[in-house]
Amino acid sequence: MALISFFSAKGAPGVTSTAMLVAALWPRPTLLVDADGNGGDLLMRLPADSGMPLTQHPGLLTLLPLARHGLSSGVVMDHSQVAAGGQQVLVGLETSEQAEASAALWPTLARAFREVPGTDVVVDAGQLAARSGQLSLVQRSDLVVGVVRAEPASVMHLRQRLTVLTQTFAALGADAPRIGLVALSGVHRQDEATSAIATVRADVPDVLDLGQVALDPRPERMFHGDPVSRPERTMLVRSGRSLVERLVAVLGPDLVPAPPPVGDQQEPADGIPEDAQTADPGTPAGQDGPDDDTPQRRERPRRKRWSRR
Ligand SMILES: Nc1ncnc2c1ncn2[C@@H]1O[C@H](COP(=O)(O)OP(=O)(O)O)[C@@H](O)[C@H]1O
Ligand SMILES: [Mg+2]
Repeated sequence: MALISFFSAKGAPGVTSTAMLVAALWPRPTLLVDADGNGGDLLMRLPADSGMPLTQHPGLLTLLPLARHGLSSGVVMDHSQVAAGGQQVLVGLETSEQAEASAALWPTLARAFREVPGTDVVVDAGQLAARSGQLSLVQRSDLVVGVVRAEPASVMHLRQRLTVLTQTFAALGADAPRIGLVALSGVHRQDEATSAIATVRADVPDVLDLGQVALDPRPERMFHGDPVSRPERTMLVRSGRSLVERLVAVLGPDLVPAPPPVGDQQEPADGIPEDAQTADPGTPAGQDGPDDDTPQRRERPRRKRWSRR
C-alpha cells in the first residue's frame, strides 16, 4: 500500500493539519503516523473517539522497541488508536531525544508501514533535514510532500531544504521517492500559492506542483477537536479534495477505489458525510456491522467522520 510523508523546512506552515486533511479525505483507509522528530502533537490536538484523551501508549513508543527484532506488517495497527472523527492514528514520540535514539529503527518501520493490510499510511514528518532521524522513514515513501506557506521566508527555507533533500534522494537511484510541494495561502490567494511553488521549482524543477491548500481558520479547528458545521462546504475541504486528486494522480490509478454498488449511496466516495453536524455518527472506524461482511463493502473506504463533540 502507499506511504506518503509530509514535511516542512522551518516554522509551522501546517504540516500536521495538511496531513490530517489528506488522511481524512483519502479514498482508502489511512493510518496517520505522527513521526515529527521534535515530538508529536497529535496527542494534544485530538481526543480519542471514545471522548477520552489519546494516550502515549499505544503508539510509536510501544511499536518502536518491537522493531529491534523486525516487525510483521499486521502488528502496526495494534499500536494505533482511533481519534475523534474516526481517523486511525499512531501517536508520536514525546521528545526529540526519543526520536534521535530510535533513528536506526525507522527503516524497519517503513517496511512495516508499506505492508499494513488494506491501509495507506500518511506520515506527518514535521520539520525535516538531511540529518533528521526520520529521514530514513521519509525516504522510503512513495511520495514526499513539502508543505510551505506562500510567504517569502517560508518559500526560501523550503527551497534550500529541497535542494539538499533532492540530492540526498538522488543517491537512492530508482528507489528515490517522488517529491511534491503544496503551498498554503489565503482562501482567495491561489495566485500566491502558484507563485510560491513556481519560485521553488525554478531551482528544483523535478518537484511536483501539488497546488494550494486554503488557509481557512474556522474549519481548520476540526483538526484541534472543535466542532465545525458543514466542513464539506469549506474552502479547506475543497482544496483538500483537489490535493488528494493530485496525489492520487501521481501515485497511480491503482489508488482509485471501485465505485460503490448501484443503489448504495449512503456514503460519499471520499468518506465525508454531507453534513457533519447532522449525519448519522455511524459505526466506529474498523468496526463495521454484520451487514458489512461482503466483498464489495470491504473494498469500500472506511467511514471517517469529522470531529464533533
Ligand atoms: N489550512 C489551514 N488553515 C488555517 N490554519 C491552519 C491551516 N493549517 C494549519 N493552520 C494553523 O497553523 C498553525 C500551524 O499548523 P500545524 O499543522 O500545527 O503546523 P506544523 O505541523 O507545520 O507545525 C496552527 O495554529 C494551525 O491551526
Ligand atoms: Mg506539526
